[in-house]
Amino acid sequence: MATSEKIQIMEKIVSLAKRRGFVFQGSEIYGGLNGTWDLGPLGTLLAKNIKEEWWKAIVQKRDDVLGLDSTILHHPKVWEASGHIKNFTDPLIECKNCHSRIRADHLPQDSKCLTCGKKDFTKAKDFNLMFKTSLGSTEEDAEVVYLRPETAQGIFINFDNVMQSSRVKLPFGIAQIGKGFRNEITTGNFLFRVREFEMLELEYFVKPGTEKKAHEYWQKERLNWFLNLGIKKENIKLVQLLKEDLAHYSKGTAEIWYDWPFMGFGELEGIASRGDYDLKQHMKTSGKDLTYFDEDDKDKYLPYVIEPSVGVGRAFLAFLIDSYTEEEIKGEARTVLKFNPKLAPIKVSVLPLVKDEKLQIIAKDIYKDLKENWFVTYDETSSIGRRYRRSDEIGTPFCITVDFDSLEDNSVTIRERDSMKQKRVSVTELSEYLRVKLS
Ligand code: GAP
Repeated sequence: MATSEKIQIMEKIVSLAKRRGFVFQGSEIYGGLNGTWDLGPLGTLLAKNIKEEWWKAIVQKRDDVLGLDSTILHHPKVWEASGHIKNFTDPLIECKNCHSRIRADHLPQDSKCLTCGKKDFTKAKDFNLMFKTSLGSTEEDAEVVYLRPETAQGIFINFDNVMQSSRVKLPFGIAQIGKGFRNEITTGNFLFRVREFEMLELEYFVKPGTEKKAHEYWQKERLNWFLNLGIKKENIKLVQLLKEDLAHYSKGTAEIWYDWPFMGFGELEGIASRGDYDLKQHMKTSGKDLTYFDEDDKDKYLPYVIEPSVGVGRAFLAFLIDSYTEEEIKGEARTVLKFNPKLAPIKVSVLPLVKDEKLQIIAKDIYKDLKENWFVTYDETSSIGRRYRRSDEIGTPFCITVDFDSLEDNSVTIRERDSMKQKRVSVTELSEYLRVKLS
């Protein structure tokens, strides 16, 4: 696909996301706040489903991973120990003419200012991405604290608490879902680079010497998670980062790259091998013993850690782009979000064929019944064809139509989103039919 066509598709996706209530610009009525996006009613459901699928795969279905929910604000020493105060920086340059601030490593060599076209920049300086705030009720006793730029440190500082309270043995992981904040120099590409975002992070602790195998295992697991939830094989790949591109804590990082329409292949998720960097730093700074006693080997050591980490928004964007499909059906255009049913915000739409009281009564009963288990909508406005198109556009996998035959045979028509095939199903078997199809 040509670049201009990809950009056009991206514009259509952003427009659909706003029009149908997936994503809104943050603080829009005040002109917007750069790098912030709000999730609308459907976006909230899509994000919730992504988080649930991640939690199910990483925590619920496994015996070796436990959950955690730590605070956003940590003791300032945490960031000193983790190296974020010193190293969590990007190179910042400023255009001397128009004062635009640019991330130096994002500007191709010898290029001009993208805002004013001049080529006169300040020297690059390190800009720390952590948001500062203060703790304390008076100016005098206020202490500088940071909004966490990753949830990972909340896990490392609770490593001993979890280990002692849950009596776990290596290898084991601690997983957490929570907000992260980064004062990015440049934001953009919709949800791709923002200043406030939710993160899905796992710290998987292993015995030193076994980290290579664990790293390879998690790369495969995480790639398969995206593939199983419907990302097309040709749009996703694993890439090993070069040494010079590694974060300050990493001994080696693999990234899952997605073929973004606005930039080509680029980072979707990182899977870092962090060694014992973090636990060692926290042990040194806090003075607390964080070593693990290996009962089998009668040995004491600091575990190494493998860290798969992905932003909910970045995963959301990949699923949204990948599912976006334009088709022509009998000369008419159809836009469909072909979400995996597990991710689809609304699972079923219940539609009386026409506004007839007898049909409405049955349809509303079915709607109420299905709502016990799933997010379901009821729609009786406009023609049935238009209602099908509307539910296709938000990715609803099934439409149930109640027609006049339903009054006779107690059955309804189920229309499947992708194939558009229709099937008669008895009302009494409806829940079970959907349960199988949606799981
Ligand atoms: N604890 C590891 C860590 O924070 P990272 O590569 O800096 O690693 C992890 O971030 C993931 O978070 C990225 O792969 C991406 O999915 C997401 N992410 C990072 N910065 C982001 C931003 N400014 N906007 C949206 N998502 C971001």
